[in-house]
Amino acid sequence: MTIDPYQTAQEAAAELRARSGVDSFDAALVMGSGWAPAADAFDKVVAEVAIGDLPGFLPPSVAGHSGRLRAVRHADRDILVFLGRTHLYEGRGVDPVVHNVRTAVTAGARTVVLTNAAGALRGDLAVGQPVLISDHLNLTARSPLTGPRFVDLTHAYAPELRALAREVEPGLAEGVYAALPGPHFETPAEIRMLRSLGADLVGMSTVLEAIAARELGARVLGLSLVTNVAAGLSDRPLDHHEVLEAGREAASDVGTLLAGIAARL
Ligand code: 6GU
Repeated sequence: MTIDPYQTAQEAAAELRARSGVDSFDAALVMGSGWAPAADAFDKVVAEVAIGDLPGFLPPSVAGHSGRLRAVRHADRDILVFLGRTHLYEGRGVDPVVHNVRTAVTAGARTVVLTNAAGALRGDLAVGQPVLISDHLNLTARSPLTGPRFVDLTHAYAPELRALAREVEPGLAEGVYAALPGPHFETPAEIRMLRSLGADLVGMSTVLEAIAARELGARVLGLSLVTNVAAGLSDRPLDHHEVLEAGREAASDVGTLLAGIAARL
């Protein structure tokens, strides 16, 4: 018997409702690599669970991803905050990668904010800078959807949410995010290729979750934190600790940005 991932999301949402006492959430935030410290901007914690305690979730295997899920109350809204996510490179397939979004939307969240750490491909994007995702290139060669689910991705990242984010932080940069499966970083030749394809940012997450959210009719806001410059564009070697460190340094600023956005959703 095959497992229906939508059914598993129903079970996880039911367990989440029972554990948090929250019947329906307004929005969900997924905190990517380096973003978890920014979650402290949401200080009214209603409940916190280990993600592995909910059906369909596995404990995380990556440094910088604690694998906890918080229900917070912020500006009269009930918000789910995922401290970490599952990545394609963990080798568990596509369903575990989008189970967070499916569970959140099933638990009521009509808006999903996806954050990540990214390498910059554009000269005006500096380390420590948050960048709105305007669109994406899904270069994972995967989709979270199977069967005849012809989802329109014209406005994958909701224009009205991007406008709202720019009200909170005027001048917030925007860019196209390219997702590769990883876990290795790219070669300089691959970075030149990605630039010629129109990418401004490169990372290993977000796009499959955005597609899964759009399929279920939720609005998506995407935010990258530039944690490094992509390969061949600087002399610095790339490593995961640098990514996490850039996140820690930017945490209070991006926390304020996220809290401002969440209050207006
Ligand atoms: Cl340069 N590449 C990828 N694929 N992911 C990243 C990154 C680069 N920097 C942070 N995350």
